[in-house]
Amino acid sequence: MKVEEADRWDLSRKTAVITGAASGFGRELALLCGAAGMRLVVADVDATGLERTLVMTGLSPEKAVVQRCNVAQSDEMDLLARTAHERFGGTQRLFNNAGVIAAGPIWKATPQDWAWVFGVNVMGVANGIRSFVPAMLEGGEPAWVVNTASIAGLVCPPERGVYAASKHAVVAMSECLHHELAQTGKQAGVSVLCPAYVDTGIADSAKHRPAELAATNPEQAPIIDRTREAMRAGRLSAADVARFTLDAVLQRRFYVLPHRRASIGLEHWLRDFLAGGAPSNPLKGA
Ligand SMILES: NC(=O)c1ccc[n+]([C@@H]2O[C@H](COP(=O)([O-])OP(=O)(O)OC[C@H]3O[C@@H](n4cnc5c(N)ncnc54)[C@H](O)[C@@H]3O)[C@@H](O)[C@H]2O)c1
Repeated sequence: MKVEEADRWDLSRKTAVITGAASGFGRELALLCGAAGMRLVVADVDATGLERTLVMTGLSPEKAVVQRCNVAQSDEMDLLARTAHERFGGTQRLFNNAGVIAAGPIWKATPQDWAWVFGVNVMGVANGIRSFVPAMLEGGEPAWVVNTASIAGLVCPPERGVYAASKHAVVAMSECLHHELAQTGKQAGVSVLCPAYVDTGIADSAKHRPAELAATNPEQAPIIDRTREAMRAGRLSAADVARFTLDAVLQRRFYVLPHRRASIGLEHWLRDFLAGGAPSNPLKGA
């Protein structure tokens, strides 16, 4: 089912909260959800980018709210949930999408690399679930959460240890949440988005890194440059991934794998695992 064919009535009476909405997937999700008639609460640490997203949606302040929010801070996520409740009476679709990347050999990762990446990628998702899901369940309407992980949440490339560990945590939280939501017997579910390389702003995510967590792996720069090149060569755009994601939500699919070829790495991983061997390098032959 294409998003354009989606039941617009179903979406148009819903509120979507999207983190990391100043750029990349988050911005494209906001454009699609806005075009489908949803009310939006868009959040990011990048206030300028957020305003740009709002302008691009063409939505009036009655239908869309922007809020500067650091997802790593639990009180800021609570405030975001309160905004969605006060402005639109609640949230029915939550996109825990904000994310950052650090790179380099894992033994050179600094404590600040771990704190920053886990603060945003792991605690950002945990905070989103804690701040929003209870009220979504009590709201009496069908509710859906989308957590943005990565193909690096399923296989482990070298020199991305901190990032891959954080994204594995997002997949784990999503799988547990899936079971827990099913046990409630309510109309509620979750999807986990696991894309491969896509050309977005994430290679430059350090520009919003807090000063107190600035100390980073000294070998990171050339690896981030190679990542940026791979992202620019990506087959799918951020808009493609957003469309694929919204389709998956409409179809209530859990695993969202826009890059089919990248998921072949998972088959290799399972073969290696069952054979009791060591993992193949997922970047070789990708
Ligand atoms: N682009 C890729 O190749 C790729 C692949 C797999 C997964 N992802 C994941 O997709 C998600 C979206 O990233 P993107 O690729 O669109 O990158 P992006 O940098 O274009 O967008 C991420 C947004 O998150 C925001 N952000 C960063 N820290 C934040 C914080 N503490 N609180 C709130 N917002 C914060 C950034 O300002 C930015 O606007 C991330 O979780 C990322 O890990 C990206």
